[in-house]
Amino acid sequence: MRLLVTGGAGFIGSHFVKRMLAAGEDVVVLDKFTYAGNPANLPEEVDCRRGDISIREDVDQLGPVEAIVNFAAETHVDRSILGPEDFVRTDVLGTLVLLQAAEQQSARFVQVSTDEVYGDVEPGWSSREDDSLRPSSPYSASKAGGDLQVLAAVRTFGVNASITRGSNTYGPNQYPEKVLPLFVTNALDGHPLPLYGDGRQVRDWLHVDDHCAAIELVLRQGEAGETYNVGAGEEHENVELTRLIVEQLDVDTALVRHVEDRAGHDRRYSLDTTKIRSLGWHPRRDWDEGVRATIEWYRGNRDWWEPIKRSSGFREYYDRQYEARLA
Ligand code: NAD
Ligand code: TYD
Repeated sequence: MRLLVTGGAGFIGSHFVKRMLAAGEDVVVLDKFTYAGNPANLPEEVDCRRGDISIREDVDQLGPVEAIVNFAAETHVDRSILGPEDFVRTDVLGTLVLLQAAEQQSARFVQVSTDEVYGDVEPGWSSREDDSLRPSSPYSASKAGGDLQVLAAVRTFGVNASITRGSNTYGPNQYPEKVLPLFVTNALDGHPLPLYGDGRQVRDWLHVDDHCAAIELVLRQGEAGETYNVGAGEEHENVELTRLIVEQLDVDTALVRHVEDRAGHDRRYSLDTTKIRSLGWHPRRDWDEGVRATIEWYRGNRDWWEPIKRSSGFREYYDRQYEARLA
């Protein structure tokens, strides 16, 4: 299958590209190489083109494909609070442009979305695919906008598209602005771990291998117009994740600093995954083993993350986000 993977130089997209190449698919990557796109995430032989999903000519330069899996997005909640415009451009307009290309080429389409579109959920409830969308951040609002474009394209233009809504994903090669790689690399550098608010927020953690397996399944077997939640049911408070990191790296607990909370911070995410499980998917990576292996990966791969954290772009972002909080 000739397959276009957008955002394939990012965290989850690069794992997915490697998985699909191993499955023998003919993959082409389209990536804008924003701060989050990293050529080092992909083997050199991958056919990787620079381009923006919100620009139709950039998409058309690739020629016809049989399927598109859209990972390309602005993805970080904190950055969306600092400046939301790029989120709307890529996550909403970019999705629309790709859907138009999919329609023209009669290509299968998978939109990689997030559990954050449901907003936070009360204890005792897990979000189902038909729950209302109540996004809290400019990031999740933009992803919800993209999802709605997908559903409209299925209904109005007959595009063969499905949506996956994955939960917080962890693993190697995640840009070190998200909590796990940020805290692990800060701990390795002896820098503070800035825990927002009381740190009792709950995330439903999913290993990147399990996330990619679910996306592949939906690509091959999902139905048009259907949405599939993807989560391992591993609900953990941020304080618990932080404790794991501190213990495994054997650093001083004084590095953990409770700082001013994120605006609009969602308290808890939790997914009902009955639907994707009925397609035969289930998570294979155990949380404790998966997190430990991930921490070890960052410990053993300074070459990957040090250039990012030492870059002026990262430093600028870090100071803007944390300087006052940690003062
Ligand atoms: P990431 O930030 O690591 O990578 C995003 C990639 O998209 C980068 O390579 C970037 O260069 C590229 N990109 C950004 N704007 C682009 C544009 N306009 N045109 C082309 N490429 C562009 O993201 P990630 O964590 O790998 O997330 C991938 C997808 O999965 C996103 O759609 C995200 O919403 C979704 N998701 C992520 C998580 C998570 O925990 N990381 C969970 C659920 C869903
Ligand atoms: P993050 O990795 O940004 O993912 P998301 O916001 O998409 O869930 O954050 C995960 C959790 O960790 C979230 O509850 C916010 C919290 N967090 C901190 O406490 N400190 C930090 O510096 C960051 C980046 C996140």
